[in-house]
Amino acid sequence: MRMRSRRSCLAVPGSNTRFLSKAQGLPVDEVFLDLEDSVAPGAKEQARKNVIEALLTGDWTGKTRVVRVNDLSTAWTYRDVIEIVEAAGDALDCLMLPKVEDAVQVAWLDMLLTQIEKAIGLPVGGIGIEAQIESARGLVNVDTIAAASPRLETLVFGPADFMASINMRSLVVGQQPPGYTEGDAYHYVLMRMLMAARMHDLQAIDGPYLQIKDLDGFAKAAHRSAALGFDGKWVLHPTQIESANAIYSPTQEDYDHAELILSAYEHATTVDRRGAVMLGDEMIDEASRKMALVIAAKGRAAGLVRTKFFQPPA
Ligand code: GLV
Ligand code: MG
Repeated sequence: MRMRSRRSCLAVPGSNTRFLSKAQGLPVDEVFLDLEDSVAPGAKEQARKNVIEALLTGDWTGKTRVVRVNDLSTAWTYRDVIEIVEAAGDALDCLMLPKVEDAVQVAWLDMLLTQIEKAIGLPVGGIGIEAQIESARGLVNVDTIAAASPRLETLVFGPADFMASINMRSLVVGQQPPGYTEGDAYHYVLMRMLMAARMHDLQAIDGPYLQIKDLDGFAKAAHRSAALGFDGKWVLHPTQIESANAIYSPTQEDYDHAELILSAYEHATTVDRRGAVMLGDEMIDEASRKMALVIAAKGRAAGLVRTKFFQPPA
């Protein structure tokens, strides 16, 4: 798995040059410069130019740089891809394809990217793909979509379009629909996407929370998908960033615990040559090591530093 950190993925409308410049100073793991739904039809062509300019001249150090192109039912997609990648392909990490409905659409993008990379001398396969799942058809086909290209890095939930697609009785994106009083109305969707993502070693990213003043609501929605195993969430406003970065990072306590498990298990298997050992009152084995590896990797990617060290028993 390409282990880029994506705890916070900031949406930046490509038509807004002020936001394109402001985004560079914000502490997000990923920025996606948008050509799709945050850009009005009449502004699409200027947005392409703004995005190219921002990629080429901006300082995006430390951030994963993504451009969201228009979806394949429009007339814009092929020009989005060709113009952006020909002009700024070496200043770009991934393209995001919205409203993916079946695997053929991802395969199309993969082939087009390969042609452009060959034509302009970029490493073939260097540009990754993020696929948004935001309709009933996309969700039903999610397993084949997740397998469609080695360029795929993440599946990304698009709750607004998804709610429209299934006629969910709510207009408040990210919140529970009124009348749904037990459980989580998004649980099935999130879990379904997570299974497909993990089956193919992809990351799983939760979508936007549109009530940007409601920070508690944002945190609640983020905790839910983080608890399942999601790797990050979209942020639409600077006030959501700190919360996303914290919620999708392991806690210091969990991170220390994971590093202790790895050290204790390493000592047990190499020095003592035993496969199951005690760490304090806890029995650990190979499965504990696998779980600890995930949390340790997320903690290291988030810049955590361990504060507890393993002492081999005397
Ligand atoms: C994002 O694209 C959404 O539809 O929620
Ligand atoms: Mg959408």
